[in-house]
Amino acid sequence: MEQSFTYPTTLGKDELYKAFLADYTLYIEGETDLISTFANTSAALREAFGFFWVGFYIVHDNEWLHLGPFQGTAACTRIRRGRGVCGTAWDNDHTLVVSDVELFPGHIACSSASRSEVVIPVHDKQTGAIIAVLDIDSTSLNAFPDELVEMLEAVVQALQSLTFC
Ligand code: SME
Repeated sequence: MEQSFTYPTTLGKDELYKAFLADYTLYIEGETDLISTFANTSAALREAFGFFWVGFYIVHDNEWLHLGPFQGTAACTRIRRGRGVCGTAWDNDHTLVVSDVELFPGHIACSSASRSEVVIPVHDKQTGAIIAVLDIDSTSLNAFPDELVEMLEAVVQALQSLTFC
């Protein structure tokens, strides 16, 4: 199904977030393939919001995050649990918003262009275990205000409601 995630620039932020969430939720409905869904989620978020980097790191062996589907520049392939923004969000099982990456001890700079970042854990519907994290980078400082983070968490909620085979 063809779906555009480009919205009129006249839309206010609230309207944009609502429109994206509604379109996205409908778009992924019934999807059962994890990689396909991660790939399209990255593309949809990049198209709608123009993020510098958006993608997923996938949990391996309870110790590592491996680079998954993403949109943006080539990135670090593996991140250890508890390391960097991604590994810390995984370890703490919590959304992590970093307004200035230079102020985050242990930040892993896959690109020197990245200035702020948000990482949101993705849980398995059945077990509740973290299976991946959604990582989004911006070239601007403070690019992730509360309303945007709430919308991104709602995107992850919609994603988590799927059953992957
Ligand atoms: N900055 C991340 C690494 C991944 S890249 O941003 C794509 C971190 O500190 O975990």
